[in-house]
Amino acid sequence: MRNDPLPRLDTDAGMRARLRPYCRLAAGEVWTDHAAGHRVACLDAAAAASVETMMGGEVAHLAVQDPPYNLAAFGQKRPDEFIEWCTKWVANTSRALASDASLYVWLGADQNNGFQPLPDFMIMMRGFAEFAARSFITMRNQRGYGTQANWMAVRQELLYYTKGAPEFEVQYTDIPKLVRGYYKDVEGVRTENLERSRSENIRAGNVWVDIQQVFYRMEENVSGCYAQKPLRAIERIVRASSKPDDLVVDFFAHSGTTLLACERLGRRCYTADIDPVYCEITIRRLERFRALGRTGWQNGNPFEVELAREAAIVNTPEAGVTAQTSLF
Ligand SMILES: C[S@@+](CC[C@H](N)C(=O)[O-])C[C@H]1O[C@@H](n2cnc3c(N)ncnc32)[C@H](O)[C@@H]1O
Repeated sequence: MRNDPLPRLDTDAGMRARLRPYCRLAAGEVWTDHAAGHRVACLDAAAAASVETMMGGEVAHLAVQDPPYNLAAFGQKRPDEFIEWCTKWVANTSRALASDASLYVWLGADQNNGFQPLPDFMIMMRGFAEFAARSFITMRNQRGYGTQANWMAVRQELLYYTKGAPEFEVQYTDIPKLVRGYYKDVEGVRTENLERSRSENIRAGNVWVDIQQVFYRMEENVSGCYAQKPLRAIERIVRASSKPDDLVVDFFAHSGTTLLACERLGRRCYTADIDPVYCEITIRRLERFRALGRTGWQNGNPFEVELAREAAIVNTPEAGVTAQTSLF
């Protein structure tokens, strides 16, 4: 089996620099998709003018935001600095949203550092009067850390806020309802829970145990990306809190999961990342899905063609190199 992964791009500045010439976008530029009306922008989510340029006067019905979590692994700021930065992109998100809209934020709590930044973020959000706190969702990862001397850390936190009164559609899992016997009298008739149900399956609720975390053996895996969210999770959010043709925004694109979910579900997506390499990966993931129906690269990578070409050039006799050069 072919195995052609990229290294983790956040910890390999050399590889990021090598990929830059293959990226369509530079800071401040916006790529527009003429087929379905999506946009990908290379911008700082905290910069109001850049976000305004991407939005072009439009407003969205849903924002799915997945910022860096302020953990040591992702370049840590002081908690107060991190929250100060969050107020800026949340304010930009608010301006980008319609009067009836939903906001979802993925964020972590560092158990080795006072559980920051999740509680700080929740308190900060109380200052945004237009956003009502609606739900605190936990998605269970299959793999975790700290397994020997502590409870294994397997949670991914997801906050749900609404602005105005957006629609919400209940989402069901694939897990069948097994337990009967929750009785209730409905118009004088004793009914059991399964009779009253709208689905044979259980609702997703605010603890998601049915979504597989992305790992390298999955088709949707985008190698090089270190913080990819499962497509199923983002599709659940998009289905619950938007309608076909609605505009969805995501200011932290990374592997472009929100864009792909929107493409698959018939929504438009305006998404951004501060790093041109992730912007390019986001665009390529969409293009690959359209061309081949694939959701990721699994054992390949988004730049495999260019990197293979580089390797071939390095290995030609004219280049004076005879030894095999390994790229990875
Ligand atoms: C946690 S990842 C998002 C993962 C994404 N939901 C996915 O499924 O692939 C965070 C991303 O935010 C980007 N980022 C960090 N600071 C940013 C900023 N100020 N503005 C925009 N993007 C930023 C990083 O480059 C990284 O790609």
